[in-house]
Amino acid sequence: MYYPEELVEEIRMKNDIVDVISGYVRLQRKGSSHFGLCPFHNEKSPSFSVSRSKQMYYCFGCGAGGNVFTFLMEYEHDTFQEAVRALAERAGVKLPEADDSPEARKKESRRATLLSANKEAAKYYYYLLRGQEGEQGMRYLTGRMLSRETIHKFGLGFASKYSNDLTRYLKQKGFQDELLQEAGLCTIDEKHGTHDKFWNRVMFPIQDASHRVIGFGGRVMGEGMPKYLNSPETPVFDKSRNLYGLNFARSARDDNMILCEGYMDVIAMHQAGFGQAVASLGTAFTQGQAGLIRRYTKNVYLSYDSDGAGVKAALRAINILRESGMSGRIIHLEPYKDPDEFIKNLGAEQFRKRMEQAENSFLFELRILERDFDLSDPDGKTKFQQEIARKLCGFSEAAERENYIEAVAEKYHMSFESLRSLVGGYAAKEGFAGGMSMNRPMKAAARKSAPRDGARWAQRLLITWLSEEPGLYDKIKKYISPRDFTIDLYREVAKRLFETLEQGSLQPASIISQFEDEEQQREAAALFHSKLPQMALDKKEREKAFHDILVRVKTYSYEYDSAHMGSDIDALSRAVSGKKDLEELKKTHISLD
Ligand code: GTP
Ligand code: MN
Repeated sequence: MYYPEELVEEIRMKNDIVDVISGYVRLQRKGSSHFGLCPFHNEKSPSFSVSRSKQMYYCFGCGAGGNVFTFLMEYEHDTFQEAVRALAERAGVKLPEADDSPEARKKESRRATLLSANKEAAKYYYYLLRGQEGEQGMRYLTGRMLSRETIHKFGLGFASKYSNDLTRYLKQKGFQDELLQEAGLCTIDEKHGTHDKFWNRVMFPIQDASHRVIGFGGRVMGEGMPKYLNSPETPVFDKSRNLYGLNFARSARDDNMILCEGYMDVIAMHQAGFGQAVASLGTAFTQGQAGLIRRYTKNVYLSYDSDGAGVKAALRAINILRESGMSGRIIHLEPYKDPDEFIKNLGAEQFRKRMEQAENSFLFELRILERDFDLSDPDGKTKFQQEIARKLCGFSEAAERENYIEAVAEKYHMSFESLRSLVGGYAAKEGFAGGMSMNRPMKAAARKSAPRDGARWAQRLLITWLSEEPGLYDKIKKYISPRDFTIDLYREVAKRLFETLEQGSLQPASIISQFEDEEQQREAAALFHSKLPQMALDKKEREKAFHDILVRVKTYSYEYDSAHMGSDIDALSRAVSGKKDLEELKKTHISLD
């Protein structure tokens, strides 16, 4: 169902965000904002803020943020349309009759249509599993010890034996062949026409963090190749930025997540009471997924298969976690192959014990490394110790490094002093700046302070500042335009913000709804919540801070245009006028009165 923008705006304005959120979260007023415990991650002290003037919320802990619609979407796992309907009802706004006709579908955006196709497909598979056709599927799943409740919770389903079944059903619902192909639900070729991607398989719908179905995994019942068939990447299915089970794990009580390899592992873990289990989506663990986890917790347990491939995958995952500033701990499952089997055989309590005994990821790495050396041979032993020393250089923080040197020395029966001097020697030889600073987290930190990120930071501050003090807009519009925002999303937000400021009506919350993608909404919301250097400073200092931000934004914009003169004809003229504006801006005093 598609609702016109003006109607959506009316509904938003009639639902004050502080009132709505107060129905879910206890809020306390602090300055111009209301604070409470964030409903989207675990915390003990409030970092969730709601602003009446901006009609937005934002969590300084996990980065969740948006307007009254996105709040309901996240909290109630509503789709956008469902949130609109709920709030319309709350405010007594009458909505036009629901319209599911093919014409109405055309007006929905492509993404929304892909999502509804997935949702309809999931509902259909779900229905089949419970019918006569799905009997074999149901037997398979219960045979794997899944309870009815678990099967329901994960929305498991069944794809029919007839290879055109789903496509026929969805076409009759008004979806076009071509869209179904784009959704990865069917394939079209000239010889055979259209046929379903999945048939005669048990189906695992893959949901994003807001419970929306974005793709599927389908498993053969028993032996057969391929064991799993997964949806391809589509505009709504980014395998590197979603995790199986995250929709539940995000609100689990424990302050950790357990990373597994397979769908069945996640499901078995949840059934056994480990609601914090997640898995990557049939591909290796990625940086994007690490970032996703870090939103909720920094403590990650790895529960990978105990075979060679599992160990290799775990080593890769450890590196990725480390690059994101997290350290993983390894849960050992021997003599069982994976968490699913382990739980089936030894139960949840034993698994919990294995969690307590989980191995530090660095020590795990060394233990695997050790296999490559012959420690009974003095040469082999020396080489191994050198390799250890080289790896220890990776810890840039002195205290942490010392602790590891101590632990490693003890484990491998070396003297602390000799290992420390070996590490020191290595650091000098490799020319690691400042002793040892070449490891990956350090590089990430260095990147943060690079000019590009300084620009990013300044652009965010400027957007927040203008939304806090809209009166400043008239004073700066001569110098700054949306073009000066060099990151696409920032530029888009600035464009809309400047338009509303121009009309004298500031509505940050309405800007959020204009982005379709949840990630974009989140990021856009964050732009209105950067930490301004306000409170502590007197007026003169604040004026200087504001001026610095303007100059920084303008300088980077100029540099950016200069760098793109070769590939973009307009950049040259922009660079020329940008330089003039910059010179003038530098000389101009801008008062904050
Ligand atoms: P079960 O054998 O049913 O217990 O599955 P599992 O969840 O233990 O999966 P397994 O450890 O064998 O594989 C881990 C994950 O890799 C699965 O959840 C799938 O996402 C993916 N996967 C496994 N087999 C295949 C395959 O044949 N093709 C593709 N594309 N992905 C697979
Ligand atoms: Mn398994």
